[in-house]
Amino acid sequence: MTADEVPPGVDIEKPSAARVYDWYLGGSQNWAVDREFGRRVEKVWPLIRPISRQNRAFMNRVVEAALDAGVRQFVDLGSGVPTAGNVHEIVRDRLPEDEPAAVVYVDYEAVAAAHSTLILEREDATDWAGLAQCDIRDPAAVFDDEATRRLIDWSEPVCLLMITVLHFIGPADDPDGLMATYRAKLAPGSWLAVTHGTCTEDAPPERAAEVRRFVDAYRDTSNPAYLRSAEEILPWFGGWPLLEPGMTALPDWRPEQTVSAVEAETRPFAWCAVARRPS
Ligand SMILES: C[S@@+](CC[C@H](N)C(=O)[O-])C[C@H]1O[C@@H](n2cnc3c(N)ncnc32)[C@H](O)[C@@H]1O
Repeated sequence: MTADEVPPGVDIEKPSAARVYDWYLGGSQNWAVDREFGRRVEKVWPLIRPISRQNRAFMNRVVEAALDAGVRQFVDLGSGVPTAGNVHEIVRDRLPEDEPAAVVYVDYEAVAAAHSTLILEREDATDWAGLAQCDIRDPAAVFDDEATRRLIDWSEPVCLLMITVLHFIGPADDPDGLMATYRAKLAPGSWLAVTHGTCTEDAPPERAAEVRRFVDAYRDTSNPAYLRSAEEILPWFGGWPLLEPGMTALPDWRPEQTVSAVEAETRPFAWCAVARRPS
């Protein structure tokens, strides 16, 4: 599918977070309205692209670490439009072909859903990876979806990924209650990985002003965004121990290479952490 073809249910009159994010990451599944919005955002907050890449790189490191620890099931909430380095690609690259594993992508956005399905079909991966087109604010719908029921055994450890998605869950959607529901579903040994936009006291004032204008820009889209502090995010792990190095800025969670100057600039604007459910 090319971006010239518009999948059913896709509104190309209004920018969507999934497609704009795809543009930030250098993907091709976005329309003029998304690119125009993305360019406007980039002017408001030039760090948007480096921070998007940092998020993606963190997610890749988490999936690799979970695989190394023996976790074989992944549920990626708010998975987005598939661009390079998707969860199922990392799993496939890292595990022997005959080793069982399962991946479920969850996104409510039509382009994200259409492309995830297409890629999994094209790669002949549908027997072990699938897409649940659901709103993550409705966990029952996520758990009851055909793909989730077919692929995920919740009595075994699952790595639940919530990467760059929780800032779209507003206070009216009870994020604390939502996180408790997801935690309750996870068996001992499961992993819960979160990244979340923030603006810490370390942010230079002009950069802090930019990120606030960025949040304002999202107010008019179908995905208004919210920044949260570490104190608001930490309770979402339910007291489960955080894996080393705890809650950090994106470039500082088990970095694999030297942090560049631009990457370092993203530090005050996102938190990330991974918890493991104890036995
Ligand atoms: C910024 S993208 C992040 C994509 C991916 N997790 C990553 O980090 O590369 C956020 C994604 O979350 C999805 N999303 C936002 N709110 C959602 C909701 N309530 N239910 C399902 N998906 C949602 C959007 O459609 C979008 O694809």
